[in-house]
Amino acid sequence: MHDTVRDWIRDARHIAVLTGAGMSAESGVPTFRDAQTGLWARFDPQDLATEAAYRADPQRVWDWYLYRRGLIGQVQANAGHLALADFSRRHPGRLTLITQNVDGLHQRAGQTGTLALHGNIADDSWLDAPRQCCQPGSIEDGHPPRCPVCGNLRRPAVVWFGEHLPPAALEAAEQAAKRCDLMLVVGTSGEVYPAAGLVFTAHQAGARVVMINPAATPLDGLAELCLRETAAVCLPALLA
Ligand code: OAD
Repeated sequence: MHDTVRDWIRDARHIAVLTGAGMSAESGVPTFRDAQTGLWARFDPQDLATEAAYRADPQRVWDWYLYRRGLIGQVQANAGHLALADFSRRHPGRLTLITQNVDGLHQRAGQTGTLALHGNIADDSWLDAPRQCCQPGSIEDGHPPRCPVCGNLRRPAVVWFGEHLPPAALEAAEQAAKRCDLMLVVGTSGEVYPAAGLVFTAHQAGARVVMINPAATPLDGLAELCLRETAAVCLPALLA
């Protein structure tokens, strides 16, 4: 099956790659929905990944993100991230990388132009629209940090449940899904929209879809091939 997909990769004019948490699992970043190890097996998303949760208990949510930032700071991009970045360097303009991951590992692997649909956990933004007093140079340390004048809180610059995705990244991802002739869907459960909808877009536009995931997903019916392998093993074998 690898040979078939390698042929498709060779012949594709444009390839879109959609990645999810499984992409970083072999780097040591926990996924969200895996039954034993996933973050949502231990934590309720409504308590930690919504604006309402943050307003209700800013310290709890801020500290959870601090914990995840610390964890992500200690891990490295894996062979899958590196294979994608290397392929993109060797084939400029042929691959668009779309990720739901906030860990920044594609970018750290050297992947330029990564479309980070859910933001980046290393960045902060203001919770409420910044006023004149909300200046980056005068942020008061704390859990979470705040503007010393008006009390506006900093928040992780990630997309929480119920929030809009960054419009430019989403638009670019939709364009890539429409114009690709091959889409590789790597390490995502396909449960979260609009990201999962990109696979329908690509399929409807006539692209071949290949799933790379050790487990079945609700998107498998759209795929021409499902490779039941892990990202860090499969991608180097396909893209070398
Ligand atoms: P999930 O945790 O829902 O799914 C991870 C997928 O990765 C599962 O289908 C696993 O079978 C697969 N997987 C596990 N290990 C793998 C490996 N080594 N190689 C390949 N696949 C592997 O993660 P996402 O689909 O990314 O959103 O979740 C989507 C969104 O839901 C996340 O971006 C996050 C979450 O709530 C926000 O935080 C907004």
